[in-house]
Amino acid sequence: MKNILVTGGAGFIGSNFIHYLLKNYEDICVVNLDLLTYAGNLDNLSQVCDDPRYHFAKGDIHDRALVEELFDQFAFDTVVNFAAESHVDRSITNPDIFLTTNILGTQTLLDVAKRHWKLDPDDKYSYEFKEGVKYLQVSTDEVYGALGATGMFTETTPLAPNSPYSASKASADFVVRAYNKTYGMPVNITRCSNNYGPYQFPEKLIPLMINNCLSGKNLPVYGDGMQIRDWLYVEDHCAAIATVLEKGVVGEVYNIGGNNEKANIDIVKLIINSTGKSEDLIVHVKDRPGHDRRYAIDNTKITTQLGWAPKHTFETGMASTIEWYLSHGEWMEKIVSGAYMSYYEKMYANNKL
Ligand code: NAD
Ligand code: DAU
Repeated sequence: MKNILVTGGAGFIGSNFIHYLLKNYEDICVVNLDLLTYAGNLDNLSQVCDDPRYHFAKGDIHDRALVEELFDQFAFDTVVNFAAESHVDRSITNPDIFLTTNILGTQTLLDVAKRHWKLDPDDKYSYEFKEGVKYLQVSTDEVYGALGATGMFTETTPLAPNSPYSASKASADFVVRAYNKTYGMPVNITRCSNNYGPYQFPEKLIPLMINNCLSGKNLPVYGDGMQIRDWLYVEDHCAAIATVLEKGVVGEVYNIGGNNEKANIDIVKLIINSTGKSEDLIVHVKDRPGHDRRYAIDNTKITTQLGWAPKHTFETGMASTIEWYLSHGEWMEKIVSGAYMSYYEKMYANNKL
């Protein structure tokens, strides 16, 4: 892993991953290809923008000519694809862009990488690729659908996505799989549970609730708030991806999670307590259509076969996350003063139960 293309690197997890790479790998060249949609924010990378090992390219993963140009210029040996439309609620109101970016964008990256990495790209029957190249698809536990009160997702759980977002991510996973089976492309797929930490866009549960607490706004809990997510501190996710890049067996899928199941309402109450606010701020709003009740990741494969384990507990991770948002008011201010506010008004208007 020397010349690495990180797509979606101006978003939440991608920017944390770029920080992680530059902190932990001396001899590396990182190119961040990001379209800077509403979710992309170069402020997330202000500390590294002058690092000679880091380069930024603004553009679409679905723009084949641009991706070709970057491959010609940087001779990547590694691609990590974070770029995606990532918010379930937005996928319910506007699914089209989710299919375009998450499925077709992924196929464009795979296809350009194949042309550059396959030893004889014109030989349909050859499976030979350059030494040491790898494409890693950052997928999600949501592709497995929803669980009842018991059980966990393993890598062999059948895919059963329920939202346009998760359907697009599952479709992309199948395309990645096909490039491995048909062409012999060296790939891995990782499926992680819910992340939290610095630089998360405040449309997502934890930063939205922190921001609303700090500005004294209502806390919109969907339905009864008893839906369960399995939370992982973002830095642990970044370390897991680096582990899969280095040690993952080609063609394999790895689930990533930290055994941290929490009900939404308990997270909201924890944020209320940590910010010294009142539970009176909680408002139960209409539930998300098709809302998955529970996710839980079985991480046995990555922990036993690759030796990865999370370093942060939920308590320490949440404490430093809340502290980060408290001390980065300006970061949040810049976001919530722009287009985010009109999204927010529309999303939560007339939505009380
Ligand atoms: P995010 O929405 O914060 O960031 C997405 C980034 O992709 C943004 O910078 C955006 O500008 C960029 N982007 C969007 N469309 C693009 C395009 N066509 N071309 C280039 N760049 C484009 O998302 P996130 O929460 O950081 O998630 C990153 C990845 O991880 C996604 O693939 C998501 O499915 C996956 N994932 C997220 C979580 C989570 O809890 N957030 C958990 C598991 C997996
Ligand atoms: O599981 C991994 C997935 O986690 C990723 O693939 C997605 O990209 C990421 O957005 C996240 O999806 P969720 O739908 O689980 O995350 P979100 O933060 O939107 O919601 C978390 C839970 O909180 C979910 O049950 C819905 C609920 N919720 C969310 C919001 C924004 C509320 O109750 N109120 C809210 O205002």
